[in-house]
Amino acid sequence: MSRKIKMIFAFASVILMTNAVQGCSRTEEQAPVPRVTLNNGVEMPIIGFGTSMLSGEVATKSVAEAICVGFRLIDTATTYGNEAAVGEGIRLGIERSGIDREELFITTKLWADDMGYEKAMAAFEKSLEDLGVDYIDLWLIHRPRPREDIPGSWRAMEELYAAGKIRAIGVSNFTTEQLDELLSYAKVSPAVNQIETHPFFQQFEAQHDMEARNIRMEAWSPLVGGNNLQGEDSKIFTNSVLVGIGEKHGKSVAQVVLRWIVQRGVVTIPRTTERAEMLENLDIFDFELDGDDLQKIAALDLDKTQFPHWN
Ligand SMILES: NC(=O)c1ccc[n+]([C@@H]2O[C@H](COP(=O)([O-])OP(=O)(O)OC[C@H]3O[C@@H](n4cnc5c(N)ncnc54)[C@H](OP(=O)(O)O)[C@@H]3O)[C@@H](O)[C@H]2O)c1
Repeated sequence: MSRKIKMIFAFASVILMTNAVQGCSRTEEQAPVPRVTLNNGVEMPIIGFGTSMLSGEVATKSVAEAICVGFRLIDTATTYGNEAAVGEGIRLGIERSGIDREELFITTKLWADDMGYEKAMAAFEKSLEDLGVDYIDLWLIHRPRPREDIPGSWRAMEELYAAGKIRAIGVSNFTTEQLDELLSYAKVSPAVNQIETHPFFQQFEAQHDMEARNIRMEAWSPLVGGNNLQGEDSKIFTNSVLVGIGEKHGKSVAQVVLRWIVQRGVVTIPRTTERAEMLENLDIFDFELDGDDLQKIAALDLDKTQFPHWN
């Protein structure tokens, strides 16, 4: 190879390397996301990155970007149909940021159609394969359809947990009664229950019940999915109370809402495809909501789901 060609190659690889790490430099500048300790001693970041509605290249690019800007918890599910794309994003994010897989906390979920011991075992293998990982940090039963085999699924989860293939097991969308039923036969107590939680559905009673059972609450759709399902002042990003609190602290509505959730000790997983919003969503650890703010937010509670089709 001539000297000139070698120089062209060297130049191209510098460009490629620069591109490969582009956007990740901030990772080192940022304080790491605080973690909470689950009931089995495993640590979980208090804020992570949600991936529902993201697919294909958008999912891959967003997950890689999220890891680059400092997210360490990635939340997906079999039913989102994006585990392979998310897995590719994880691979890219690790490559671009230079972190180890062990620094990440990957959650996926067992869908209702895969319930039962045998089907759960097979679904787990498929999730591992699609995500391109050899263990999962947190595996959740996605939703408790009563006619499905929850005990059989849980037994499979317990076995995989005992085998070291999953670091923590948990559930999603379980009521307190459903948690108690599970606890009546579980050998391993669920570490997490992921439920809908935002200012219009605040879930303090559920949180109280989970804390009494040493189960960590995790909030899904913290920003109400970005949807504007209610009347004018119930649009999350223009709600006058949240806008006012944001102005007081020099923060956005998203930051006020996410801060309100983590200040409760609840884990949350906002989704966005925008790098600026990813950074904004992580920038919530330098202020605190006071008693007056909390009272005003409490008054926004409609105490009902904003996703009736899902629940
Ligand atoms: N277990 C369950 O049953 C369940 C159910 C639903 C969701 N989940 C999980 O929870 C995650 C989050 O819920 P979600 O996806 O419904 O939505 P979400 O996080 O409540 O809201 C996402 C929307 O908020 C916007 N957004 C995010 N950050 C913003 C910011 N800083 N400023 C302005 N807008 C912002 C996004 O906008 P852009 O369009 O700009 O990106 C997007 O439209 C899901 O992705 C999934 O992982 C679980």
